[in-house]
Amino acid sequence: MTRRSWLLGWTCITFWMLSCRTELIGLQNDLQQQPRIINGSVARADETRHLVSIRLLRHDNNFGSGHICGGALIAPRKVLTAAHCLYNNQRKRYRRASEFVVVLGTLNRFERRNGTIVSQVSSMAYMHTFSPDSMRDDVGILFLRTGLLSDGVHLTVAPIQLAGQVTPSGRLCQVAGWGRTEQSSLSNILLTANVSTIRLQTCRMIYKSGLLPGMMCAGRLQGGTDSCQGDSGGPLVHEGRLVGVVSWGYGCAEPGLPGVYVDVQYYRQWIEERSGAPSCSLSSSLLILMLCFVVAVGNP
Ligand code: ARG
Repeated sequence: MTRRSWLLGWTCITFWMLSCRTELIGLQNDLQQQPRIINGSVARADETRHLVSIRLLRHDNNFGSGHICGGALIAPRKVLTAAHCLYNNQRKRYRRASEFVVVLGTLNRFERRNGTIVSQVSSMAYMHTFSPDSMRDDVGILFLRTGLLSDGVHLTVAPIQLAGQVTPSGRLCQVAGWGRTEQSSLSNILLTANVSTIRLQTCRMIYKSGLLPGMMCAGRLQGGTDSCQGDSGGPLVHEGRLVGVVSWGYGCAEPGLPGVYVDVQYYRQWIEERSGAPSCSLSSSLLILMLCFVVAVGNP
């Protein structure tokens, strides 16, 4: 082979490594986010069929114990969550898709019943502008290996639609999750709480420059009811449509400090455009490498 073919070969390999870098560098990690919903009530299965539990595979040997975040099924194999759920803060890098397991169709996170779907993650997407420091663009998507059948009618699992319009302030919404409760221990059962959308102006006054575009507040200004650590990634729902994703807050359920959510409407286009393009699956990698080889050899 000539120098030119070597050069071509190396360019291809470099390109492949760059395109796969998030997968390649994602080694084991430990971030333990702690889940909660403060002052909620037990969720009804028919109202939360879109709720998924996102878990770390290696902590889930006792089924349910690996729960780190919530998420919402938005298409048969597509789960919307928070980007920070996909990020290992200790190691300062994204986790690999293979580190996750996603569970659908059970209210009790420890229970695996007939309709429960347990899926591996085939690929993931997140906004590359996400910042763990500012929580800017805290949106992520997981593509499931085994989701719903496309036309599938399922008793306990169903996708939820994204909100089509901006939700005005003062609207009653539901937030749900397996997070810690006011007793500060993880909830075994899915809990839900009623919170209201809060005026952007009010929210800005509270969080000042911490409130970035694409963020919105929901909660109760008198305090007492809120989502909390580990409810992250979970859905905020208004009239059966997904309006927000649990992102951050200052403490939990504190008076005057409502929860901050990802504004789904703001990211709608980005969310809808993502489809399960493999980030770096074995088969696609092999295909690219084979092509590189063919190009290199075919250019003597
Ligand atoms: N960042 C938290 C998590 O990782 C969610 C915090 C929500 N906080 C709130 N006060 N609503 O689970």
